[in-house]
Parts: sequence; C-alpha cells; structure tokens
Amino acid sequence: MTAPSLVALTGATGFIGAALLSHLTGSGWRVRALHRPRAGRVLASLPGVEWLPGDLDDPDALGALAAGADAVIHCAGTVRGARQADFDRVNAEGAGRIAQAAARAAPAPRFLLLSSLAARMPELSHYAGSKWRGECAVKAASGEMRWTVLRPPAVFGPGERELRPLFRCIAGGFAPVPGGTPGRFSLLHVDDLATAVLRWLTADTGYGETFELDDGRPGGYDWDTVVTLAGRALRAGRPVRRVPVPVSLLRLAALANLGAARVLSYAPMLTPGKVREITHPDWLCDSHAFALATGWRPAVGLEPGLARAYGT
Ligand SMILES: NC(=O)c1ccc[n+]([C@@H]2O[C@H](COP(=O)([O-])OP(=O)(O)OC[C@H]3O[C@@H](n4cnc5c(N)ncnc54)[C@H](OP(=O)(O)O)[C@@H]3O)[C@@H](O)[C@H]2O)c1
Repeated sequence: MTAPSLVALTGATGFIGAALLSHLTGSGWRVRALHRPRAGRVLASLPGVEWLPGDLDDPDALGALAAGADAVIHCAGTVRGARQADFDRVNAEGAGRIAQAAARAAPAPRFLLLSSLAARMPELSHYAGSKWRGECAVKAASGEMRWTVLRPPAVFGPGERELRPLFRCIAGGFAPVPGGTPGRFSLLHVDDLATAVLRWLTADTGYGETFELDDGRPGGYDWDTVVTLAGRALRAGRPVRRVPVPVSLLRLAALANLGAARVLSYAPMLTPGKVREITHPDWLCDSHAFALATGWRPAVGLEPGLARAYGT
C-alpha cells in the first residue's frame, strides 16, 4: 500500500489554516504543518500530522517544509498591522520566500497561495497591497513550479475573530453596521474554502490562474441582508435594531487606534486602511471560473453557517 500524499501547510494555527488542517486529515492527506513555537501553545494532535517549527523568515525551515511534499498550501498571513512593513514582511516577502523554497525542491511541489479578494484593490490599504505583492512574489519565484492563487472574500466560521463581535451584538439584538455605505460584498464559509482547496488538490488543474471564490449567492450581500439573515440565525428571527455607525466616526476611531498601536506596539485591526476596505462599494466576486476548472461547488449558506459558527 502506498502512503497517502503529503501536503505542506502554513498558517495551520490560525482560523482558516486550522480548518484546512482538519479537512485535509479528514480526507486522508498527510500534512506537514509549519508552526511558530510559543509558550503554552498546544498543537492539534491529529492523525497524519507532523508539526514543523519555523517562521516564514527562515528559508531552511521552509525548505524542510516543502521537501517531498506533493503540494504546498500557503495560508499563513497577517491581517493586522500598523505599518506597510508589518504586512509586507509576512504577506509579500514571506510568500515569496516560501515559493522560492518550494520551487527549489526536487521534484517541485504544486503551490497554492491563499491570497485575498483585497488583492484586486492593492491601493486601498497596506493589507490589500501586501496580498497583491505576495501574489506577484509567488509568480516571480515559481519558475517551472505549478502555482494557483485563490482569492477568498471575507471568510466566516468557527474560530473566526474579526466578525465575531458584530455577530455577538446581533445575537444581543443590535447591529452596529457602517452607515451610508451602500456597498455589496461576497462572503464564504471556511468549510467551503477548505473543500475548494481539497478540490484543487484532487482536480490537479487550474495552474497559472488566479481564482476568486464566493458562496454562490448571486449579487452577494449588503449590510441590511446580513443583519436580517444573522437575526434569523442567531435570534430566531426576533427583531434586530440597526445602529448605523457614521463613517467619519469609524475613521476617527481608526486613527486613534493606529496611533495607540504605534505607541503601545500592538498589531491593530481597525486602521484607516481597514475603514477604506470596509467602505469600498464593490467586494462582489463569483466562483464561476474555479467551479468550471475543478468542479467545486460551495455548500454552506450564510444563515445556517452563522448559526453553526456563532450560535449558542
Ligand atoms: N479571514 C478572512 O476573512 C480572510 C479572507 C481572505 C483571505 N484571508 C487570508 O487567509 C490567510 C489566513 O487568514 P486567517 O484569518 O486564518 O488569519 P489568522 O487566524 O490570523 O492566522 C494566521 C496564520 O498565519 C501564521 N503566521 C503569521 N505570520 C507568520 C510568520 N511570520 N511565519 C509563520 N506563520 C505565520 C499564524 O501563526 P501564529 O499562530 O504563530 O500567529 C497563523 O497560523 C491569510 O493569508 C489571510 O490574508 C483571510
């Protein structure tokens, strides 16, 4: 009997990476997962998982990670930071470094970069720019290595931290949503993202392409629809009071948070760049091209997905 194929995974201690790890092992893949050793950290003990200590800054660890792997799934990234350099060091330089390490392996694995829909608007924020530069760095480093880029929109699900406060508020009966922003956006449940990755692994196609992914809802969402569906999922349909937060107030809070982060040295989520992302009018995308290439279909609707992720 031959051993199951090996996938090298980064970011497995994070929200999306943990879901990938569980789906991969559940589907019979062996996984070598990079982790940054940290006091008190307990690593998931799953059959077929080998944890390898290392950082995206460390080319030797990345070489060891990629050696002998059938595929590298690069999911590590940073979504918080005070300066462009905070994002670029991980999302751009780190992505380039692991792509170089993988391309040097013999035979070279296939390479999947988990980018972001934000990469389609690199000028909006340091985060968006770093994800776009990460895509460029992977392509530049790849040589003959087969690569694919996936660009998910905002991802939600168990273990997610950024949207959780909003859904907690909605469960409590009020919804602080950005006021006066008529934008539309796509969403994706983390389990659907994981099945897309599994599908890419088995379909063995879609190389040299950048794919956007969504949950298949035509026209996506606006804030009002999200609040309505979340109210059904988390409050059994009892009313939710909309509390529009003026964008000017969001900007002020973001500036104050950025200033505090620079003084106190923490990695902020709410920054002026994040406000520009939140208020951008068009974060709609669709999975048509990826579905056509691989046969993948999303399966988790927002309402049941929210109930599973944030319900009590
Ligand atoms: N969440 C979303 O809605 C969303 C949407 C689109 C795209 N994405 C992309 O998906 C990826 C994962 O996002 P997430 O929400 O799961 O983030 P997350 O929960 O913050 O996890 C980030 C992961 O990256 C690891 N990491 C960060 N810097 C590293 C470094 N220098 N070396 C090695 N590992 C490092 C973290 O390790 P530690 O545990 O050691 O910190 C963690 O495992 C990111 O690339 C993000 O840009 C996320």
